[in-house]
Amino acid sequence: MCGIIGRVGTDEAIDSLLTGLENLEYRGYDSAGVAIQNGAGIKVQKRSGKVDELKSALEDTTTLEGEVGIGHTRWSTHGPPTDENAHPHTDSTRDVAVVHNGIIENYGDLKGQLEAAGHEFTSDTDTEVIPHLMQRYLDAGFDSERAFRAAIDQLEGSYAVAAMVAGEHVLYAARQGSPLVVGLDDDGFFLASDVPAFLEYTDDVVYLEDGDVVVVEPDRITFTDATGDRIDRTPETVEWDPEQAGKGAYDHYMHKEIHEQPTALTQALEGRVNSERGEISLESVPAAAFEGVDRVQFIACGTSYHASLYGSIAMNRVGIPTSAHLANEYGTSAPPADDRTLVIAVTQSGETADTLSAMRHAREQGARLLTVTNVVGSTATRRADDVLLIRAGPEIGVAATKTFSSQAAMLVLLARRLASDFEGASSMSTTRETGGGREDLETLIDDLQGLPRAMQSILESDAAERLAEQYLDARSYFFIGRGLGYPVALEGALKFKEITYEHAEGFAAGELKHGPLALVTSETPVVAVFTGDADGKVCNNAEEAQTRGAPLIAVCPANHRATEIADAHLEIPAIHPALAGLLANVQLQLLSYQAAAKLGRPIDKPRNLAKSVTVE
Ligand code: F6R
Repeated sequence: MCGIIGRVGTDEAIDSLLTGLENLEYRGYDSAGVAIQNGAGIKVQKRSGKVDELKSALEDTTTLEGEVGIGHTRWSTHGPPTDENAHPHTDSTRDVAVVHNGIIENYGDLKGQLEAAGHEFTSDTDTEVIPHLMQRYLDAGFDSERAFRAAIDQLEGSYAVAAMVAGEHVLYAARQGSPLVVGLDDDGFFLASDVPAFLEYTDDVVYLEDGDVVVVEPDRITFTDATGDRIDRTPETVEWDPEQAGKGAYDHYMHKEIHEQPTALTQALEGRVNSERGEISLESVPAAAFEGVDRVQFIACGTSYHASLYGSIAMNRVGIPTSAHLANEYGTSAPPADDRTLVIAVTQSGETADTLSAMRHAREQGARLLTVTNVVGSTATRRADDVLLIRAGPEIGVAATKTFSSQAAMLVLLARRLASDFEGASSMSTTRETGGGREDLETLIDDLQGLPRAMQSILESDAAERLAEQYLDARSYFFIGRGLGYPVALEGALKFKEITYEHAEGFAAGELKHGPLALVTSETPVVAVFTGDADGKVCNNAEEAQTRGAPLIAVCPANHRATEIADAHLEIPAIHPALAGLLANVQLQLLSYQAAAKLGRPIDKPRNLAKSVTVE
């Protein structure tokens, strides 16, 4: 949700700023801009549209010479995506330039006060109040750092902000509620919303905390708290490499990330499952870590919510009372929580505002907080008591793919690992279907280790591509499943509508007959997911739709009885029922991707969306 980048060094800033903006485009692509300063003052270039449009406008980047600069790629909140509303924003004299990610909730009041004092605004954005506030304090005789601090002291809401003042080789930056990370290389420093922005240049980073204010000069950086007292922030080295963060030979990040799933899962499972000892061990969740806890609540949004539903079914099946909640509803309709409740926040980015807000609510109720995330150092990791990393590597495509698989797999592991901390849980059923017991655990561990290979076999098939072509003219697409197949059906529909712009809905298979069946015609393919959960009933529900003319696509193993009735088949290898949904999901990802590619959609950057949703 908006990407910001800043550079202070001894080299020209423009190239690394533009690279940073391209790498951050997944956070928003409504407009882009840069501001650079040299002896001649601050120069700003900004355009509505994607970074490429800004680059075309900058035909001759030598007009933007200078070693200090800031850049921004926008996901609009206040004001439409026009040139005027693009960042950076300046004060009336162009002595101050600012980029911002977040929302200034009191900007209306501040703007009113500034306008009354004679300040003229040129955009509809909340951000523009910041350079004007700085200008007011500079005019009052404050030095630049004090003016910056005084300005951000006035702000209510969330921000990651970077500012510069004409004539200075310095950037000022602050973080409150929106992510900001510093990169350190031999020639200077970067500021960015996320690490991939500058990964080509350095992997030494410092994650800023809420309340941090930094003053960045070419040869030093000063970290302070909100009151101006110095604080220590230790650099760490991130393990992502730039190649991982690039597109490689693929046309789209999404396609690359779908194909990375076997590797991502291998990384996620490494050191966590031991088939010789038949054990699952999670470094951050040691035995008895959650003793005393008597229920689990998941909070998450979008795809992460679907992974959470998957996880909650896995938890309930081993006897842990669990519920899954949309994070944006949690504050208003959550069930009671207390110090015996474990709240698990599932979030790829670790920065989703709805999820962070739900975490705050859970904390106020006294709950224990665990986050399952992909991003080391993200805000969620700092808000939680414990962190379980999914180790999927950077995910750039706006549509989450590999992180869903890694999240869901980790939650299946977590369910088994937590079962022993819950009184009565591990003594539950030992059948394969319900997912408890020693013998079943051994099968699960074996199949977990075979999961990357099983996924690979799906990735090598072109069945989804052929089906995407066959049903490209459909009017609407329905996805159905039961048990663990239900969250997969929801996820399949979300992915399909998100990147194809075609209408798609996911349903619990048994719900079709309670209303949605009225929509079913020969132009509405029904994709039925078979995971071993009440497959017979899913077959009945699928046939009910087929009888009314709907083409039926069955996602199931070869020789499954559904293949006898279905019009088309997406095959998945036979596997433990706790994992079948993960394989079915890969077929659905490929179906969505191929349909979107054939329809010529901008797959990595679907309209109106952004990767990291840092507003509520
Ligand atoms: C859909 C998608 C979103 C995210 C959601 C939560 O493909 O990616 O629905 O899952 O915005 O994001 P995180 O997991 O970062 O909290």
